[in-house]
Amino acid sequence: MPSNVLLVGTGAREHAIVWKLRQSPKVGEIFIAPGNAGTARLGTNLSGIQPKHIDELVKAAKEHHIDFYLATMDDPQPLGLVDRLTAEGVLCYGPTQAASQLEASKAFSKRFMLEHGIRTPSAQVFTDYREACRYVESLPGRGIVVKASGIAAGKGAIVCNDNADALEALDIIMVRRDFGSAGNQVLIEQRLDGWETSAHAFCDGKTAAMMPFSTDYKRAGDGDIGLNTGGMGAYSPRANVDATLADTIRIEVVERTLAGMAAEGAAFTGTLFPGMMVPGDGPYVLEYNARFGDPETQVLMPRLESDLFEICDAAARGKLDTVEVRWSDDPAVGVVLASGGYPATYKMSYPIDGLDQLDSDVLAFHAGTKSDPRGIVTNGGRVLTIVARGKTVAEARARAYDNVRRVTFADAFHRTDIAAGVA
Ligand code: GLY
Repeated sequence: MPSNVLLVGTGAREHAIVWKLRQSPKVGEIFIAPGNAGTARLGTNLSGIQPKHIDELVKAAKEHHIDFYLATMDDPQPLGLVDRLTAEGVLCYGPTQAASQLEASKAFSKRFMLEHGIRTPSAQVFTDYREACRYVESLPGRGIVVKASGIAAGKGAIVCNDNADALEALDIIMVRRDFGSAGNQVLIEQRLDGWETSAHAFCDGKTAAMMPFSTDYKRAGDGDIGLNTGGMGAYSPRANVDATLADTIRIEVVERTLAGMAAEGAAFTGTLFPGMMVPGDGPYVLEYNARFGDPETQVLMPRLESDLFEICDAAARGKLDTVEVRWSDDPAVGVVLASGGYPATYKMSYPIDGLDQLDSDVLAFHAGTKSDPRGIVTNGGRVLTIVARGKTVAEARARAYDNVRRVTFADAFHRTDIAAGVA
C-alpha cells in the first residue's frame, strides 16, 4: 500500500524533493504545507498552513491520513513536529526536537563538536550585547565571524573584515534583531580562510549514507559580492573534494556526529548537512544543518538514481544499511532566478514566461511562485532554480544558462558565475 507523505516548506528544495518522490511507486499522495505552484502540480498544497504551525500540521496529518513525514526545512523540527507526529503513529525521516538542536542552537553545536573531537573554529558565546562588544574590542582586529545562535534561514552568519564590521554585526543581530529571537545568543568565531563545501548525508540514528558533495553561492552578486541570500545557485559534484577528503568528512565529521548524538541520548535521524570549510590543514565544520540544503538539494535530487522514498523510509526505520543509494556520475548545475531587489525589498505578482520553452530534460524547480488567472506569477524573492545536467560541470553549466535565458519576468536577475571556471 503506497504511503501518503507530508512535506513542509515553500522552496525549490521542496519542489525538487516532491519531484523525486513522485517517481516512487511506494508513494501515494503527497501533501505540502504550504507549497508553491510547482509542488501543486505534483501533490496537494496545504496552502493555509505555515511551517511553524505545529498544531495545524499535526491536525492535517491526521485528516489526510499521512503515513510518512519527510523533513526538508529547518523550522518545524525544533518545535517538536517529529516528536508529535511520531506520537500519532506517523513514521518520520527527520530529527527529534532534541536532535535538531544541532542546527537550532549554534551554542549547543559548538559545545558538542568541541566535546566530541569534531574540528570547528574556536568561538565564544554571549547573551549580553555589551559583553560581546567588549570581547570584540579586545580582539586583534581581523578574522571574525559573528553568528546568531538560533535558526536564521541560513543568513545568520556575518563574516567580518575588522572589529568595526563585527560591532556592526552585533548591532544587527542583538540590537536591531534582524533575525528575531535567533539573536538572543551570539557566537563570535574565528574566521578561517579556505573553500567551502556542503556535505549531506542520509542518517538513521547510527548509520550514514553520504550524498555527493556540492557547493552553493550565498551572495547576491557575481564574484561573491552583495548581501547574503538563501542561495543563488549550486553545483555538484564539488570540485576539489577528492576521495581522501570525502573519507575524512564521512569518518571524522558525519559518523563521529552520529556516535556523539547517540551517546548524548539524542540519536540523529534525517538529513545531516554540515557546512564545511577547507583551509590548508583540512576540513572544519562551520555549522550543522539538520535538513536538506537549498539550493544544494536542487542539484542533488536530479543526480539520485535510487528511490528517495525507499532511502528515507529505511532510515526512519533505523535500517539504512538495507538499501542501496546510487548516484549518477553526471554533474548538475542549478541557477536561481530571483526578483529584482532580493534579498532586500522586491515586488511580486509578475507573470513568468518561457517555462514551456525549456529543454525537455532541464528542470525548473519553483520557489516563490503561485498560480493566478494570468498563469504562474512571482510570489517571493527566489523564484525558480533552473537545473541542467551534463557530462561535465562545464557542459551542465552551459545548458543551465542557455535555459535560464528563456525564462523571463519583470525585474528578474540571476548570478552569471555559478560553477564558472569548473571543468
Ligand atoms: N545552502 C545553505 C543552506 O541551505 O543553508
